Amino acid sequence: MFVCLFVCLFSISTGLSSMSFCCCVKKVLSPNEGKSELFKKLHETLLDYLDYNLIMMGDMNGVVSTNMDKAQRQVISRDGRLPKTFFEMTENMDLIDIWRTRNPLEREGTFFSEAMMTWTRIDQIWVTSGMAPKIKKVEICPKTCSNHNAMKMETKFTTTGSFRWRMNDTLFQDEEIYKKAQKTLKDYFEINLKTDVEKRVVWDASKAVMRGFLIQQNSIKKRKQNEKKEKILEKIKEGEKKLRSKPKSQEILREIKLYQTQYMELMNQEIEWKIKQMRQKTFESADKCGKLLAWQLKKRQKLNTVTSLEVDGKNIHKPNEIRNCFLSYFKKLYSQGPQKEEDIDEFLKQYGLQKISHQSKVDLNQKITEQEIEGAIQNMQLGKSPGPDGLTSRYYKALKEWLVQPLKEVCNEILEGKRAPESWKEAYITLIPKTETEKTQLKNYRPISLLNVDYKIFADILAKRLKRVLMEKIHKDQAGFLPKRHLSDNVRNIIDILELLEVNINTKAVLIFVDAEKAFDNISWSFMKKNLHGMGVGQGFENGMGAIYSEQKAKLIVNNVITEEFKIEKGTRQGCPISPLLFISVLEVLLNMIREDQQVKGVQVGAKHYKLRAFADDLVLTLQEPDTSTKRVLELIQEFGQVAGFKLNKQKTKVLGKKLTVMEREKFQNETGLTVVKKVKYLGVYMTSKNLNLFKD
Ligand SMILES: *[C@@H]1O[C@H](CO)[C@@H](O)[C@H](O)[C@H]1NC(C)=O
Ligand SMILES: *[C@@H]1O[C@H](CO)[C@@H](O)[C@H](O)[C@H]1NC(C)=O
Ligand SMILES: *[C@@H]1O[C@H](CO)[C@@H](O)[C@H](O)[C@H]1NC(C)=O
Repeated sequence: MFVCLFVCLFSISTGLSSMSFCCCVKKVLSPNEGKSELFKKLHETLLDYLDYNLIMMGDMNGVVSTNMDKAQRQVISRDGRLPKTFFEMTENMDLIDIWRTRNPLEREGTFFSEAMMTWTRIDQIWVTSGMAPKIKKVEICPKTCSNHNAMKMETKFTTTGSFRWRMNDTLFQDEEIYKKAQKTLKDYFEINLKTDVEKRVVWDASKAVMRGFLIQQNSIKKRKQNEKKEKILEKIKEGEKKLRSKPKSQEILREIKLYQTQYMELMNQEIEWKIKQMRQKTFESADKCGKLLAWQLKKRQKLNTVTSLEVDGKNIHKPNEIRNCFLSYFKKLYSQGPQKEEDIDEFLKQYGLQKISHQSKVDLNQKITEQEIEGAIQNMQLGKSPGPDGLTSRYYKALKEWLVQPLKEVCNEILEGKRAPESWKEAYITLIPKTETEKTQLKNYRPISLLNVDYKIFADILAKRLKRVLMEKIHKDQAGFLPKRHLSDNVRNIIDILELLEVNINTKAVLIFVDAEKAFDNISWSFMKKNLHGMGVGQGFENGMGAIYSEQKAKLIVNNVITEEFKIEKGTRQGCPISPLLFISVLEVLLNMIREDQQVKGVQVGAKHYKLRAFADDLVLTLQEPDTSTKRVLELIQEFGQVAGFKLNKQKTKVLGKKLTVMEREKFQNETGLTVVKKVKYLGVYMTSKNLNLFKD
C-alpha cells in the first residue's frame, strides 16, 4: 500500500505562475497506523504555510465516505476510510474535497483494482476553500494509461501579464499552413512596401500581421486535434460503462486498452511539445540542448525559481515582493550613470584608441547585403527563446525568401541615420544565478537579454564586421570574443608566469585578479559611442550603434512572471551579438593606459614585460615592484572607471604574492587595500602562488 500525493502552495495574492512551493510526499506504508502518522507529519509541515493557498492532490489511499466513494453494490470496510489525522488536517487547513463539493450525490470511483474487483474514489483534489471560486471545472477523466482515472481541474487564475506568446515551431511542418504563411507574407509586403510609410513601421506591422496569422492557424490546428482526442475518450468512457456492469469481461478490457494506446500516442506528441516549452522556461537563453529527461527539467526548474531574497538584512519570501526587489535593483543598475560628457571627451582625447585604417572604415560602412542577412539567419540557432515579439528563428529560416529584402531596406535605412523599428528596443531580461550558492543575493544574478530575432540579425551583421576590425586593433593579451583567441591561452600564460617567478629567486611580484561588479551592465553608453567615434568607425556604423544603443526598454522575467517595463540607459546587454565587442573595445582603453604607463612594471621575461591578461571581464595583472605598480594601477582604474562606468571591487579582487616576506605582504595590504590570498580561481582553474598543486575545478 502506498500514498502518493502532491501538495502545492500558492501565495494568496498572486496566481499559479508564482507557485512558490511544491512538494511531493511519496511513502510506502504497510499498516494503517503508518498512514495516520504520515498525515500528522504533513499537517505539521503545512502549518508553516497557513497564509498560502493550497492544492493537495493525489492517491490518498483511502476514501472520504465508505458509503459514497464506491460503486453501487460494493461494500468497503471501515479501514478503507482515511484516518482521523487526515480529517484533522483538512479541517485545520480549511481544505475541501473539491470534486465532492461539486458533485454531492454522485457515486464514482477513480481506481479499479483488478485483483479485488473494487472501484473506489481514493484519488482526490483538496483545495483551500477560498480558492473554490477560482476553480472552473473538476472532473474524473476516463482511464487512459494507469489503473487510476486521472482527475482534471481547471482554474482561472488571472496572472498579471505573464502570458508570453511564442510561435509554435512545429506549425510549419504542416505543408498547407506553410504555404498559406508564405502567401500572407508575400501579399502583405507587395502592398505595403510600395507606400511611402517608413520601412521600419511597415516591418513592425508585418510581424504583427504574421503573429495574428500564426495564432489563428495554431488554434484551428489545436481544435482539430482536440476533436480527435474527444472521440477516443468517448469510446473509453463507453467501454468503462460496460465494464462496470461486467467487470470480468476480458473482451471489454481489451477494447479499452486499444483506445488507451491510441490516446497515448496523441498524448506523447503533446508531451514532447510541453517538454520543449519547459526546457525553454528553464534554460531561457542557455545554449545547451541535448536530450534531457523530464525529471531533470523539474529539478532544474525548481532550482531556477527564486524563493527567497535577502535585502537590507530582511528576508523576502512573497513572490510579488521578490519581483519588486529585482525590479528596483535592475532599474537602478541600468539608470543613467554620473558621467559628464565633457569629462569623457577630455579623457578620450588623451587615452582614446587609435584610428582604424581607411579600408576598415570602408568595410564597416558598406550597405548591408542580402548575403549578409541570409548568412546571419543561417547562423541563428533553432530552439532558443525568442524575444518579446515571440517570433522564433524558425520563422526567419522558413520565410527567408520573403523577409530578406524588406529587412535589408530597414537595416540600410538605419545606417543612413533613420531610427530602428520600435520592437528592436524591447527585451525580456531573464536572471541566471551565477553560482548555486548565495542565491539570496540580488547581485549574484546575471541578467541575460532575450531580444527579437530581427534585431539580432542586424546586430550580428555589424558584429561580424566589427570583429574583423578589432582583430587587428585589440592587443593579443586581451583574449575574449575574438577568433583564434582562447581562454586556455590566458590560463597557460598565467601559469607560465607563476612558474617563471618560482625559479627567479630575486623577483618580488603580485598577480592581481581584478573583480569588477556588474562590469558589462555598468558601461556608459556615451563613453562607448564616443570611443567608437574616436576610432573613426564612420557615420554609417555610428548610426547603427546609435539606433540600437538608445532608448532601450526591458521587462524582467522573475519566476516566469513578467514585471513592468523600465528604461535601460547603460551597459552592454548580454544576449546581444555585438555587445561583447563593444565591451572589449571600451576595456581596451584601460588596458592601453596600463600597458603604456611607465610606473606600472610588468613581470619581466627576457626583454619582454608582461603586465596583463584579459578575458571578457576577467582581468589579471602581473606586476613587479608590487607596491608602486599596484598603487598606480588602482589610480588608472579609478580614473578610467569614473568616465567609462567601471568599478573595481576591492573585497572580491584577490592577489597572489610571490617572494613577499610577511612584513612586505602586510605593507602591501595596508597600502593598497587589497587582500593577498593563498589560492585563486581563475577561469575555472585553481591557482596558488606555488602553483605546484594546480588542479581543475
Ligand atoms: C504546437 O503544435 C503541435 C503540433 O501541431 C501541437 O501538438 C501543440 O499542441 C502546439 N502547441 C500549442 C501550445 O499550441
Ligand atoms: C558604475 O560605475 C560608476 C563609476 O562610473 C560607479 O560609481 C558605480 O559604483 C558603478 N556601479 C556598480 C554597480 O559597480
Ligand atoms: C598595517 O596596519 C596595521 C593597522 O593599521 C599596523 O598595525 C601594521 O603595523 C601595518 N603594517 C605595516 C607593515 O605597515
